[in-house]
Amino acid sequence: MPKLFTPLSIRSATLPNRAVVAPMCQYAAANGLAQPWHLMHYGSLMAGGVGMLVIEATGVLPEGRISPACLGLHSDETEAAFADLVKSLKSFGDGLVSVQLAHAGRKASTSLKTGSSYLPPDEGGWELIGPSPIAFSDQWVAPREAREQDIDRIASAFADSARRANRAGFDAIEVHSAHGYLLNQFLSPLANQRSDRFGGTLENRMRFPLDVLRAVRMAWPEDKPLGFRISATDWKEGGFTLDEAVVYVKRVKELGYDFVCVSSGGMVPDAKIPGGEPGYQVEFAERIKKETGMLVRAVGMIAKPAQAEEILAKGQADMIALARGFLDDPHWVWHAAEALGVDYPYPFRYARAHPKLWPGAKLARGGNS
Ligand SMILES: Cc1cc2nc3c(=O)[nH]c(=O)nc-3n(C[C@H](O)[C@H](O)[C@H](O)COP(=O)(O)O)c2cc1C
Repeated sequence: MPKLFTPLSIRSATLPNRAVVAPMCQYAAANGLAQPWHLMHYGSLMAGGVGMLVIEATGVLPEGRISPACLGLHSDETEAAFADLVKSLKSFGDGLVSVQLAHAGRKASTSLKTGSSYLPPDEGGWELIGPSPIAFSDQWVAPREAREQDIDRIASAFADSARRANRAGFDAIEVHSAHGYLLNQFLSPLANQRSDRFGGTLENRMRFPLDVLRAVRMAWPEDKPLGFRISATDWKEGGFTLDEAVVYVKRVKELGYDFVCVSSGGMVPDAKIPGGEPGYQVEFAERIKKETGMLVRAVGMIAKPAQAEEILAKGQADMIALARGFLDDPHWVWHAAEALGVDYPYPFRYARAHPKLWPGAKLARGGNS
């Protein structure tokens, strides 16, 4: 059996295969509430047989959302909307349904018109909070520096959202500590220039993210998988580094986390990302897996089944996540099964075997009439 189709058990849950839908903002929520769009979009991916679905960055507080059209999980109403969504999604496939809990910090309140600038309060946006009053770019405003009581409030909000996620029926959580959002902002000297116990040394910069991750660990059931996402490097001189990421992941593993999704970048707009070739972040995942022993998910420009299989077979990662690959092809898993010689569900096999529908299609193995 190819590695991609070898099930993976994490605590009491089992991914039927190792293909994961990476979180992707849909900008389709209304006041943080899931809409029919989310059922259609995530439903089609679940029906496509994914091993795990990660629902997009979801604000633990309304002001933690990336944009006014992003999902939230901070109230009874948002929890109820998710409960309905999750129930339906789980009826479409065997994959795990998870959610990415997030606070966008200085990159919150994004204008939907531009997608890359700040939406001020008088146009429906809100004020920003961050580790230090340093704007993300000249298209944004400087955030208010978080005080200790803000830090405690935000950590509690993450824990509350985790409890809500459990009640809503989610199988797993992924805490967003990547892409220049709030947890990542505290880790990076490019956004965090505090002189108190939350800034300066790596130990101090990790303090707030570790507080959040600890609070979520305590709020989330022991038997359900728990993970987080990192940017392994800011791709910028003076920023967060891969060596620091290794230390961070080790500390999070000690808290009782099961997996890490290894991404990169997002801290500053002028990061120098070399090439962006296929699998350009896999070497980060490989090093983190080797040096921390944590379950690792590789992501970034992975699109071909053979490429995904090779990464897993070489032991560079334990799971593969695709974002754009699943937008392009919600049936990627079935196409991967076909490419790697694995059986896949009947109706799809039938379509592939029907010469009139698919001129040139190969006869599916063991096809029904
Ligand atoms: C439309 C879109 C929305 C995204 N939203 C999120 C998000 O909510 N959270 C996150 O961590 N990454 C987000 N990403 C990044 C992806 O999860 C992924 O890391 C990135 O696209 C690289 O993977 P790919 O080459 O397979 O697309 C988004 C990417 C896309 C294309």
